[in-house]
Amino acid sequence: MLPNRLLVVATLCSLSTSAPLEPQDALTILDTTDRKDMSGKAGDPPQKYFHESTFDPHYDGRFAEKALGYQEQKAALKNLVRTFLETMKDLGIETWLMHGSLLGWWWNKQIMPWDSDVDVQVTEPSMYFLATYYNMSVFHYKTPRLPAGRNYMLEVNPNFSNGDQSDWRNVIDARWIDTESGLFIDITTARYNLTHLSGQGMMSCKDGHEFRDTYIFPLRDTIFEGVAAKIPYRYKDLLMKEYGDWSLTLKDFANHVFDEVTMEWAPKLSNR
Ligand SMILES: *[C@@H]1O[C@H](CO)[C@@H](O)[C@H](O)[C@H]1NC(C)=O
Ligand SMILES: *[C@@H]1O[C@H](CO)[C@@H](O)[C@H](O)[C@H]1NC(C)=O
Ligand SMILES: *[C@@H]1O[C@H](CO)[C@@H](O)[C@H](O)[C@H]1NC(C)=O
Repeated sequence: MLPNRLLVVATLCSLSTSAPLEPQDALTILDTTDRKDMSGKAGDPPQKYFHESTFDPHYDGRFAEKALGYQEQKAALKNLVRTFLETMKDLGIETWLMHGSLLGWWWNKQIMPWDSDVDVQVTEPSMYFLATYYNMSVFHYKTPRLPAGRNYMLEVNPNFSNGDQSDWRNVIDARWIDTESGLFIDITTARYNLTHLSGQGMMSCKDGHEFRDTYIFPLRDTIFEGVAAKIPYRYKDLLMKEYGDWSLTLKDFANHVFDEVTMEWAPKLSNR
């Protein structure tokens, strides 16, 4: 434990009263100096901003040296999602579930336990706001589910303002990072493409995903992992297009079975 942990930007109940840190302070507070750097930076091209760990592409190697076990990872991911959604709500940022996280919502309003990847999106103005005021901000959460307290950091890719898909090494615009486990949420920006051949209202992400804005807006209010969340308006169409019809009905997937009584994905025996 560091004495200067108290400096962290915010706690759950007093988000509005504290001032953001200078960006360089954030990593100092998190004090990664005594850890081995597993960031994978050395193997990455210099143009790439975010570095996944050498041991698992869904962990940030600055904060962890190894992946968590199945149950621990599941618990850490749930808290990652909850703290992210709560923080965005407090900051007044509209964010919505996408990709695997949206599919998890479809089944039981939870993450899928085999998926160590969490995906959310924001609009371009929201990303500018986060980059301007909250880059490298650390948010401290101490809740009944996190009794020891935990720090989460928001980090914005300096290349977020470049929406061009040719910048393919920087398709992730920002991350919400659990500074204890190294797990993170990928935050991507849905940008209007004013020159799209299909005309007005087309949006795209740097990773090449494209959709018309009427698929996303107006966002629907719902619950995910027990906290308030938003999903795209035409969520079912988006899911069928991305994963195929079967993904909405097949109850045996990735070594897990969906139990309709408990409404949970249970691992098959070999997984434990
Ligand atoms: C960001 O994008 C520019 C091109 O716009 C590119 O030259 C650069 O390498 C990219 N990466 C970083 C980290 O700036
Ligand atoms: C966020 O802060 C980091 C660390 O100071 C910096 O490298 C990065 O360029 C910043 N991102 C933006 C969008 O300014
Ligand atoms: C906009 O859409 C066109 C295709 O209609 C594509 O060639 C172009 O790369 C897109 N622009 C961006 C910034 O994604």
